[in-house]
Amino acid sequence: MSQRFHSLRGFEDILPGASERWQQLEQRIRELMRCFAFREIRPPLVEATGLFTRSVGEGTDIVGKEMFTFTAGDESYTLRPEITASVCRALIEHGLDRAAQLRLYYVGPAFRKERPQKGRLRQFHQVGVELFGETAPGADVETIALAWELVRAAKVRQPRLTINSLGGETSRTAHRSALGEFLRARLDRLDPDSRERVDRNPLRVLDSKIESTKLATADAPSILEFLDSEERDHFAAVQAGLDQLQIPYEVDARLVRGLDYYVRTTFEIAADTGGSQNAVLGGGRYDNLLHDLGGPALAGVGFAAGIERILLASEPDPEAAPPLELFVVTLGESASRAALSLVHRLRQAGLGVLWDPAGRGLSAQLKRASRAGARFAAIVGDDELAAGQLKLKQLQTGTEEQIPLEISAVVSRLTQGKE
Ligand code: HAM
Repeated sequence: MSQRFHSLRGFEDILPGASERWQQLEQRIRELMRCFAFREIRPPLVEATGLFTRSVGEGTDIVGKEMFTFTAGDESYTLRPEITASVCRALIEHGLDRAAQLRLYYVGPAFRKERPQKGRLRQFHQVGVELFGETAPGADVETIALAWELVRAAKVRQPRLTINSLGGETSRTAHRSALGEFLRARLDRLDPDSRERVDRNPLRVLDSKIESTKLATADAPSILEFLDSEERDHFAAVQAGLDQLQIPYEVDARLVRGLDYYVRTTFEIAADTGGSQNAVLGGGRYDNLLHDLGGPALAGVGFAAGIERILLASEPDPEAAPPLELFVVTLGESASRAALSLVHRLRQAGLGVLWDPAGRGLSAQLKRASRAGARFAAIVGDDELAAGQLKLKQLQTGTEEQIPLEISAVVSRLTQGKE
């Protein structure tokens, strides 16, 4: 027996029935991006490994253990675990920064070698935006507002927005050292994973889901107490902007993002995905990243949402299925021959049309027509051909009528009542 292959764990097929929901969501997203004046960029899926080590950060879980990396010749390649780094690389490479303000969005797959579970895949899809060249807090506000509109457009159930400020380099270093000291004094109360993180990445300890660690760190020093006055003003202005737009949010000084490039504002949107992976969207400001990657000293702010998680957290929309207007049922050889061009020309006229090229029996064809979800069946036999007519049957109601066997007549009958 020949070997049967299966998709790999964490890599999913998106089948018809589901793919229409994806298309519908993507369409809504593209419309939203147009309203917010973002333009699409499509970077490649594979980049030099160094791009991610430099941007996402050596000490992060993503770079430390989740990247799909392979070598060919002397080069090390990585399947992108996120897309911000690629967008920055492209901006620098193509000198896109000549525009005063640059607003880019993307939709596509990313790859992380995580343990697969509900809402956590090894190949998942992100839709994201990156806004460059603007340090004013208004840019953070409009980015968060777009994130909020996106989850609303996707009809995500009860989204919850959390924001934080991570400050800048000076305030972060001071906080990091105070936090390190605090954690080292409580090492015995931390879980083993967190203990290991105390020196490498102490902020991540605050993100632990382990109850005992949460308890032990409940009164850990907050980053918000370490912000300088400019950072504090920036964060206050972001909150004032969200208040003005009546976008509900919570400030959480423990909101930690799993990527190293953030400064100042960070945010996440959580929703019930039916599993433990509740973050449907995350983002923030990264004012030093372009410069760190050898590019211009240009600020950036953006976010990415996980499309699988957005779909898990929202209701399926019955409108998503594509319409099949007509199934052409043929009786006899001449009808079958005539149907070949009839079907083709109706498709050229923009109708969704299916037929049975093998010309099975009448009831078999009608069964196929309703199984395919067609609104109408057009029955063409020798009598109809001779009379230049066809029998149009509305499949839901069973109503039948005769109409001329002409493309224009069929098109106008089937598009009746539609725009
Ligand atoms: P991130 O928080 O790592 O941020 O990922 C963004 C979103 O991608 C998450 O909120 C989640 O919905 C989805 N996601 C991440 N990993 C998985 C997975 N294994 N399976 C399913 N979904 C997943 C970033 O990637 C940043 N680049 C966002 C950003 C853009 N910051 C600034 N600009």
